[in-house]
Amino acid sequence: MKHHDVIIIGAGAAGLMCALTAGYRGRDVLLLDNAKQLGRKILISGGGRSNFTNLKVEPSNFICGNAHFVKSALARYPSQQFIEMVERHGIEYHERDHGQLFCNDSAKEIVTMLTTECDWAGVNIKLRTEILGITKAETKTEAGQFMLTTSAGDLSCDSLVIATGGLSMPKLGATPFGYHVAEQFGLKVLPTHAGLVPFTWHSDDKIRFEPLSGIAVPSRISAKDGTQFSEALLFTHRGLSGPAILQISNYWKAGETIEIDLLPNMDAAAAIEGQQLAHPKQSLRNTLSHWLPKRLVEVLFDEVLLNKALNQLLHAERAAVVANLHRWTVLMNGTEGYRTAEVTLGGVDTNELSSKTMEACKVSGLFFIGEVMDVSGWLGGFNFQWAWASGVAAGQAV
Ligand code: FDA
Repeated sequence: MKHHDVIIIGAGAAGLMCALTAGYRGRDVLLLDNAKQLGRKILISGGGRSNFTNLKVEPSNFICGNAHFVKSALARYPSQQFIEMVERHGIEYHERDHGQLFCNDSAKEIVTMLTTECDWAGVNIKLRTEILGITKAETKTEAGQFMLTTSAGDLSCDSLVIATGGLSMPKLGATPFGYHVAEQFGLKVLPTHAGLVPFTWHSDDKIRFEPLSGIAVPSRISAKDGTQFSEALLFTHRGLSGPAILQISNYWKAGETIEIDLLPNMDAAAAIEGQQLAHPKQSLRNTLSHWLPKRLVEVLFDEVLLNKALNQLLHAERAAVVANLHRWTVLMNGTEGYRTAEVTLGGVDTNELSSKTMEACKVSGLFFIGEVMDVSGWLGGFNFQWAWASGVAAGQAV
């Protein structure tokens, strides 16, 4: 049986970061993955340019059953430290809205950077390896306390880190492996569901809104709990997407409506009144088409109403139009699920883990990092920042 100080299962963002941190501390690290390529989610992230972190990371950018849990790791590994590594490797990057940082060229550079660092830190990486079973010695033996049966033979280690991610994008190799390990060792796993995910229409609405596919507008979207995001809204063949929808999907529960402000940067009542004074004979259709795509206006409002001149509109009609523009309330059928979700909400209960080291409180030597835990970030580089920060926290403790 081959022994290592540390075995990390999952060579994604968190696993790579943990491996290089532990390796630089002189630990003998083996990083295992069942895929044939490492860091696959990094490679496709940010449309191939990886939104690798954010300039302004706050605990409030994360959803976690225990709101204080993320503070320690985020404070000890701020995004600036990851940016410094990116700069040391000569990777050029740029800032987009809301402090999001992307590679100028390709996400491949982030994977190359992490594997180079792993190499320098002496980390052993083994891909295409299935983990068939894990046991833990009752008392610590010389051969280490965790025994792994794998397709590459039997292994043992003192510290075992689970970095196998969540359930999003099964075609990229997502598996529930990490949750099963947690349950095997008696740790609570909170119910999981798809996050940062597009919504789908009910069938009647699909017929009505499908022709709008491809239209994008600025919006402010609110969930029932009062959470709001002001970003672009995109109509798709199946439903609604775009950054505002992906963000609000983290706060949405099945059966709840969402409220959409289609003109977040103006006062529609005042604007219509102004138009009525200046152009009383202008139709409502032409008026609204100054501010929103005409196709959207024609689907949202009744034909007869749209043909009315502004000076013919009844007070109640104008109030209804304004309400629909600023508080369009929609009941979505559901989400596109894990197939297209960027993250998985829920996972290994953080109350079971140390917020300083990510070690299981009741199973010494067992660590959980990254998306497998009940920590999910907003869109904007926050999920990678959690992978880096939790990976470093565990890497310093294993
Ligand atoms: P990750 O999923 O990265 O890695 C898990 C690893 O475990 C994989 O290599 C997998 O093969 C391996 N594994 C799984 N099961 C196994 C098993 N049974 N045995 C052995 N190995 C196993 N975030 C962000 O901040 N900015 C962005 O731009 C994007 N963009 C983005 C786009 C898309 C399309 C998706 C799906 C996701 C994003 N994300 C993102 C989210 C981000 O990719 C995600 O939060 C992190 O990759 C999570 O890192 P982990 O290391 O925890 O899991």
